[in-house]
Amino acid sequence: MNILAEKRILLGVTGGIAVYKAVEIVSRLVKSKANVTVLMTDAAQKFVSPLTFGAMSGRQPVTNLWQLYQGEKIGHVTLAHEADLFIIAPLTAHTLARLAQGMANDPITATALSTRAPMLLAPAMETNMWEHPATQANLHTLTDWGAQVVGPEAGRLASGAMGMGRMAEPETIVEHARIILGRAQGPLSGLRITITAGGTREWVDPVRFMGNRASGKMGVALARMARDLGAQVNLVYAAMTVDPPIGVNQIHAERAEDMLREVLHLLPKTDVLISAAAIADFRPVTTHKQKLKKGVGEDIRLERTPDVLKAVGEKRKALGMPKLVVGFAAETTDLIANAQAKMRKKNLDMIVVNDVTAPDAGFGVDTNRVTILTRDGAVTPLPLMSKEDVAYNILHRIRGLLGAPSIGWDPGVGSVLS
Ligand code: CTP
Repeated sequence: MNILAEKRILLGVTGGIAVYKAVEIVSRLVKSKANVTVLMTDAAQKFVSPLTFGAMSGRQPVTNLWQLYQGEKIGHVTLAHEADLFIIAPLTAHTLARLAQGMANDPITATALSTRAPMLLAPAMETNMWEHPATQANLHTLTDWGAQVVGPEAGRLASGAMGMGRMAEPETIVEHARIILGRAQGPLSGLRITITAGGTREWVDPVRFMGNRASGKMGVALARMARDLGAQVNLVYAAMTVDPPIGVNQIHAERAEDMLREVLHLLPKTDVLISAAAIADFRPVTTHKQKLKKGVGEDIRLERTPDVLKAVGEKRKALGMPKLVVGFAAETTDLIANAQAKMRKKNLDMIVVNDVTAPDAGFGVDTNRVTILTRDGAVTPLPLMSKEDVAYNILHRIRGLLGAPSIGWDPGVGSVLS
């Protein structure tokens, strides 16, 4: 599943030095199978030729208002009506002002007036221009009308000076495009999902901890996919080798105890809880304030940590929330029997089990081979696939368990939806 696939995206490019970065935006969107049409102001064409954008997008850019599109229809009108999203990147102070005035004297401003698609603006300009009250007032006007803004960021500007005004990175802009499309069109729109991810750390002394091999990749893939499908996502994360995604509510929780507190706090506002974190089962009885010396540290005594899912199971009855609880089981033997026992013991609706001894599935890698078990006794083994596709399959089943119709689901590359 890929929220960008087949989406009709307009990219308005205005004249600033960051135009070269807009080429990468097109490249990323096209790689994600979006249909991209570029619209350019005259100033933008002074920085990069329309040829470059035409070659990257596979479509002729719209460079003037009088350009006919597909023979008969006027370009900006047809494009505006069909668009799923209108991105303007880079957006200069000048075009920002024209947009705020409702002007329509070039393909970008005319399309902005005609379209009802969500708008994503990525301003780029010198610091003084950005900070000027006129620019800020214009931006407010557009955000009041519903436009979303990404950046600008602080950094080195065209003048060589350091300051606020650099356009957001292409990767960040494309992430925002995913978020907006997910919210507008995703099949999980309105669902509140809390996901735990990563590996907890239990401290022995100020320099040593008990941890585990979890990378957080599976939980992050779930959070990102749920976000792209339109859900409101809380990601409660312990130690991870990857960054938590933007567009989700990020809550750091280092130890099992922290995870328990944060998850319980979120419970009344959680429709679905997915516990993908590797939560420690044991912790040192004492966390020493000073670094342990040889001869003292050899005998660390351990005690049990709280079981987060068990606590959720107990609270759930009284709260009536979450509607669904999904656990993971990292096993090395008797996968199905162990997972079934865990599902019963922790009162789960679904459990996702994987063999963590397999080199291409489990800890640290980008792929996984899992079996999904549900309370009704169904056992569904999935083939080896990316963690993204595993996430999609899990979320698809969750939606099925919630009794929602499967409208809007697109199987996507590599997904198995049996
Ligand atoms: N889990 C939890 N709290 C813990 C330990 C685990 O909520 N203290 C959750 C995990 O996030 C996962 C599920 O329980 O979703 C199963 O975790 P796992 O470590 O496989 O199972 P354990 O309950 O720890 O059982 P065991 O170690 O005996 O296999």
